[in-house]
Amino acid sequence: MTETVKIDIYANNLVATQAIATQLAQLVSAGTIILLEGNLGSGKTTFIQAFGKSLGIHTTIASPTFTLIDEYTEGRLPLYHIDLYRLERSQVASLHLEEYWRGEDFPLGVVAIEWASKLSNLPPEYLNINLAVVEESLAPQQIQTPLTEISPQHQLAIPSLSDLEGEGDLDQDLAEDFPETRLIELIAHGETYIKLLECFKFSQ
Ligand SMILES: Nc1ncnc2c1ncn2[C@@H]1O[C@H](COP(=O)(O)OP(=O)(O)OP(=O)(O)O)[C@@H](O)[C@H]1O
Ligand SMILES: [Mg+2]
Repeated sequence: MTETVKIDIYANNLVATQAIATQLAQLVSAGTIILLEGNLGSGKTTFIQAFGKSLGIHTTIASPTFTLIDEYTEGRLPLYHIDLYRLERSQVASLHLEEYWRGEDFPLGVVAIEWASKLSNLPPEYLNINLAVVEESLAPQQIQTPLTEISPQHQLAIPSLSDLEGEGDLDQDLAEDFPETRLIELIAHGETYIKLLECFKFSQ
């Protein structure tokens, strides 16, 4: 059985997610396969947009939900961005996606597949990225209190979203009360990807 290593990262906002994608793009090499999973709107396309930018792709990376496969060749490595959302498993099999990681018919690059759970034939090694929205969990006391009981000082204490985005050292607890946080699970399947994750640097 293929060895796996899993890392969980909480990205408190969009910029944090983009930072992880940016760093990952600096570590990948030709032949890298990224299988993305997560509900609608969890951030799969957003992740690949930042990833592609970091690879040196200046073209706007759109969601491939309707195009199915988008190819970008202007970066450090070719990027093949695929979205299986609209397909049945049987249709996915007939796409022969393995051609993208065989490197025979296409120049070897990075293959990033959204809704990868629809794949029937998994590659021997790959990086799995699972994104999940972290719901507003423990709302702060002042938000749960009926409005009439909130003093003006308390109301002022709740920052607006734009305030939070502008603050570099914002209070951790307050930031987590907005549903922008994503749990990003990076799961390396196989030796190549385990080594890749070992190069990952985390800021606390
Ligand atoms: N921390 C975060 N990380 C990623 N996206 C975030 C974050 N906070 C907010 N967002 C927003 O969540 C949305 C994610 O949408 P995106 O299209 O990337 O999701 P998706 O997983 O590709 O959805 P689909 O399954 O429809 O393809 C974007 O509007 C993005 O700006
Ligand atoms: Mg998407």
